[in-house]
Amino acid sequence: MSAVAGGGRPPAAPTLGGLTGGQLRRLCAVAELSDADTDAYAWVLTESLGPVAERALDLPPPSPTFLSDDHTPVEFSLSFQQGSAPSLRMLVDPGCGAADLAGNGRIGLETVRAMAERWRFGTDSLDAVADLFLPDAPHGPLALWCALELRPGGVPAVKVYLNPSAHGPEHRTETVREALGRLGHHKGFAALPETDGYLFFALDLGDWSAPRAKVYLRHDGLSAVRAGRLSRMDPGPGAAQIEEFFRIAAGAGRDGVRLTRRPGQTCHSFTDPGAPWPSGFTLHVPVRDYSPHDGESLDRAASALFRHGMNAAPLVRALAAMSPRRPEDGVGMIAYLSLAHQQGRPPRVTTYLSCEAYAVRPPAGAARHPVQAVPAGQTAR
Ligand code: TRP
Repeated sequence: MSAVAGGGRPPAAPTLGGLTGGQLRRLCAVAELSDADTDAYAWVLTESLGPVAERALDLPPPSPTFLSDDHTPVEFSLSFQQGSAPSLRMLVDPGCGAADLAGNGRIGLETVRAMAERWRFGTDSLDAVADLFLPDAPHGPLALWCALELRPGGVPAVKVYLNPSAHGPEHRTETVREALGRLGHHKGFAALPETDGYLFFALDLGDWSAPRAKVYLRHDGLSAVRAGRLSRMDPGPGAAQIEEFFRIAAGAGRDGVRLTRRPGQTCHSFTDPGAPWPSGFTLHVPVRDYSPHDGESLDRAASALFRHGMNAAPLVRALAAMSPRRPEDGVGMIAYLSLAHQQGRPPRVTTYLSCEAYAVRPPAGAARHPVQAVPAGQTAR
């Protein structure tokens, strides 16, 4: 792909780090982060990617990571809570340049440990369960992903995502039960709702007021009504509120669709050891598989935000920060919409934003082959 300068803009940096770093910098402005924080976080992204930051964008993706649909090893999200500027996060697969999953896990762990040293936080909870999720010969589909909440001040809050199937899918249930137990959440496993599979086990590390252990569940063929019954928080969101969010995000009418393509996901979070119920519940709707194009996904996000007393203007700016393409010209830049409840806080609506470094999925009804992405900074044709 040749870098063509257009419209007086500087030529696009033709590397993975250049593209995602540019997106990050523009998103930092949307999230009202300072220039110093922006520089700090751009550097953190480059560090987390390691050598693949320098990888030319016309090479194939460094690994088949399913972190995003086109295998870009980075995804951003913008999380909205009433009364404050939206918070920006980034999810990275730090070991995506490794030859295999074992190497991926090793690099991931080293990356997290380097962050722990740099920002002086402990990794006790991760150390307590590492053998469950990072065996010598791990099964897929992932080893370790790392998410960073890019807070004002230049020190992010860190989250680590691990694979319940690391010892083989047949052990995933036991792995989740054991991990929750080791962290003191002895009643946690029994509190979870029915599921079609355990997808991720996640831990908050570092400076959190109440660090969470989180369990992500898959729900095949999910309907609004069933989604409304999945929360095990107590007290928690009412079924009507969850159903309404599902209908808005999935684009369902009154009776609505079921998520028969990509499944819905829920996440239950545990903060107080010994508590009988989880303290948080999130519903994730993979809007990209149920929306014709990102213009429609944006409208749905705006409706969900409006219902929770918020405004979509920062999201409109965020989409422009991601790519010069029009939202209508592809589907998947908005990957998921989620509604999160955590005890003692107002609900949060989160929009997950794909980098599209390698491909843009055409809008539904258009030609079926993914088209080459136009790197941000180049003029869209
Ligand atoms: N891309 C994967 C998926 O679609 C993993 C993932 C990335 C994900 N961001 C997410 C899952 C946000 C749920 C919510 O499943």
